[in-house]
Amino acid sequence: MKVLFAIFIGYFIGAIPTALIVGRNKNIDIRKHGSGNIGGTNTFRVLGKKAGYFVTIVDILKGIIPTLIGLGVGGEVTGVLAGITASIGHSYSLFAGFKGGKSVATSTGVMLVLNPLSILYGAIVFVIVLFTTKFVSLSSMLAAITVGVTVSFMNVDISVKLAAIFFAVFILYRHRSNIERLLKGTENKAFQKKRPE
Ligand code: G3P
Repeated sequence: MKVLFAIFIGYFIGAIPTALIVGRNKNIDIRKHGSGNIGGTNTFRVLGKKAGYFVTIVDILKGIIPTLIGLGVGGEVTGVLAGITASIGHSYSLFAGFKGGKSVATSTGVMLVLNPLSILYGAIVFVIVLFTTKFVSLSSMLAAITVGVTVSFMNVDISVKLAAIFFAVFILYRHRSNIERLLKGTENKAFQKKRPE
């Protein structure tokens, strides 16, 4: 029962389409601009800094809150399940026609609760790659791999290792279109605005 509750809470909190709601408030459908992604990066690109920070922070909280609830009601495995379903909810949201973002911020929130040290390593890689290449997508993917690899070698519960590996694979999968653009040389660079007319 506790596990089902955690999964339910995780999915519904994760599924709140923050970027879509913030865009609608400004009469802009974020799916029709920039990369079309319902996430923090595309919000920065299309709606500006203030909206971008807001969406990123809320999307991180969408990972933190269900994981804390899961840990509170049932312990580590329940926290992991709530966190994983939050990230699935973010990417396949019931409130956005089962579409959604790439789960970078939401899974960051989950791992921030489960294993903050791995997020520190991931953040270091993210910043280095971002400032050398200017590609947020590449930085996100390499950071997710870093978190997955470092947690695998840590002395932590197997459920936390599986969560970190799941997020790395899931984030790579959700970045399929970015990988194609990176290979073609057409990927969006960070700090490039694509504001609607
Ligand atoms: O967090 C998503 C980011 O890695 C890529 O976003 O909008 O450039 O596809 P975007």
